[in-house]
Amino acid sequence: MNEKIRLAILYGGRSAEHEVSVVSARSMMAAVDPERYDVVPIAITKSGRWLLPAESPAQLDTPEGTLPSAGEEGTSLEVRPGGAISDDAGPVDVVFPLLHGPFGEDGTVQGMLELAGIPYVGSGVLASAIGMDKEMQKRIFESNGMPVAPWLHVHAHRWERNHDAVVDMVEDDIGFPCFTKPAALGSSVGVQRCGNVTELHAGLEEALRHGGKALIERAVNGRELECAVLGNEEPEASVVGEIIPHRDFYDYTAKYIEEGTQLGVPANIPEDVSERIRALALHAFRSIDASGMARVDFFLESGTDAVYVNEINTIPGFTPISMYPRLWEASGVPYAKLIDRLVELALERGRS
Ligand SMILES: Nc1ncnc2c1ncn2[C@@H]1O[C@H](COP(=O)(O)OP(=O)(O)O)[C@@H](O)[C@H]1O
Ligand SMILES: [Mg+2]
Repeated sequence: MNEKIRLAILYGGRSAEHEVSVVSARSMMAAVDPERYDVVPIAITKSGRWLLPAESPAQLDTPEGTLPSAGEEGTSLEVRPGGAISDDAGPVDVVFPLLHGPFGEDGTVQGMLELAGIPYVGSGVLASAIGMDKEMQKRIFESNGMPVAPWLHVHAHRWERNHDAVVDMVEDDIGFPCFTKPAALGSSVGVQRCGNVTELHAGLEEALRHGGKALIERAVNGRELECAVLGNEEPEASVVGEIIPHRDFYDYTAKYIEEGTQLGVPANIPEDVSERIRALALHAFRSIDASGMARVDFFLESGTDAVYVNEINTIPGFTPISMYPRLWEASGVPYAKLIDRLVELALERGRS
């Protein structure tokens, strides 16, 4: 038997999705096979401080799943370019960046791991960056012939310079109702449904509070479906799942605060729709050059049965109720096996 794999799990992080990441990390650490892995938990505080493994597990125990503001000093974790990431016990073999949103899912941490020359789970720098930018991924999906709902993007400076021009453009090209969202965030933070011009104003102000670019998209009236992808060069698609929010839409509250959203796994949809979605999920994964894992989200429009690709997430949630692990569970890959597979894929890619 080989030695155990030293698996570093990076969690927490500087984004608005910090809490979600902590919950994901907690369930992942409980699930990994201790015979197979030495887990090295590395918590990142909201202010961006990386905590040592000795300090990190305690952070998982806080009832609300958040980290206290960390001011304490400790010896640091060492990241050596071309070398390794090490703690006192030596270098780690592979890193699982379980970080959502900016400074984690967006290619920045992946770039650092490339510099350190260490294998890591999930997509590389480019795919991670594209997956984090709703404008760029929409462009790529469109240019690859995938169906997306009509959309526009607007930079903060343009909005500030001329509200009316932006509103005119939305009225002409998108119409109401529409959705406004920050271009580079997730977990529905800053996402609003706008039924009229007043709400569009408020929605754009809100979206742009979270970054310099916002997306405006025609509201699709229909069902929300998701498909999980796993693999490197020959990715596989899971069964399709459905999100059935109990609120107006799948907002932050529906995702993480209130119980009530139901997951349909597998979704109760006709076989041909499911096949279309699975094919599109693989297409989306390949189109951004993703690796390891991704969850691709769709809308199925009522009445027309048109399918639209909404977005790709390169680091999907891994909480016990998260769609990504549930879809694989329903496709014959239980949670612990899924982690094994993702680690294998990371090591495979690290060798190539
Ligand atoms: N064009 C749209 N039509 C209908 N609902 C939408 C649309 N865009 C977003 N939503 C709703 O808002 C939620 C969050 O938007 P999404 O684009 O998935 O951003 P995030 O990256 O924050 O998850 C979606 O899950 C869906 O419920
Ligand atoms: Mg989403």
